[in-house]
Amino acid sequence: MKPRLARPHERFKASYIQGAWEFISERRTVTWHPEILRQRFGEYLQALRQAETDPLAGLAPSSRFWLVGADDRYLGDVDVRHHLNAALRCYGGHIGYKIRPSERRKGYGRLICCLGIREARQLGIGDILITCDDDNIGSCKIIEANGGRLQDKIDNDRAVLTRRYWIPAAG
Ligand SMILES: CC(C)(COP(=O)(O)OP(=O)(O)OC[C@H]1O[C@@H](n2cnc3c(N)ncnc32)[C@H](O)[C@@H]1OP(=O)(O)O)[C@@H](O)C(=O)NCCC(=O)NCCS
Repeated sequence: MKPRLARPHERFKASYIQGAWEFISERRTVTWHPEILRQRFGEYLQALRQAETDPLAGLAPSSRFWLVGADDRYLGDVDVRHHLNAALRCYGGHIGYKIRPSERRKGYGRLICCLGIREARQLGIGDILITCDDDNIGSCKIIEANGGRLQDKIDNDRAVLTRRYWIPAAG
């Protein structure tokens, strides 16, 4: 079965937490530590729902989807921000995604970006901004394969420049 996007749900809990441990192993920042998730998964799901309709101050509303494969295995996630604010225009854009380390280099990055663009279109977003680090070869390839046109590379006071790509509105 081809992986699909699903709304975050309790039934993915065990697999999602395994994925979170993998992100920790590569020293990636996670908003909820897997130990906390184990105890308070329902609260986490609630926080994700709240981010969609009633986000924390200064954040744009955003919808989270999980890419899931056979046996409801969690593969990665994508965040679709409903509109841009000043911060997202510089870093983050409309769509952010990640694939759990054990499932990389199988085409899922390209797929999750494509499905995220589809969700953004459903939300009525026209031109879609996606950003990535200048040295993130995988992500640059993914965005370009999904129709991204490089606008510029800007300095966000980070170790590397940030590439800003636009996916033009369809039609
Ligand atoms: C970037 C990321 C999403 C790629 O996911 P993935 O599932 O490995 O990507 P894919 O398998 O779809 O690969 C897409 C292309 O990038 C290439 N690629 C992927 N990772 C790569 C890497 N580390 N170095 C070089 N090329 C890479 C693949 O070979 C493939 O190339 P092709 O189109 O020529 O065949 C994943 O590494 C990740 O989650 N990284 C951490 C979070 C992140 O960087 N998110 C993106 C923020 S903008």
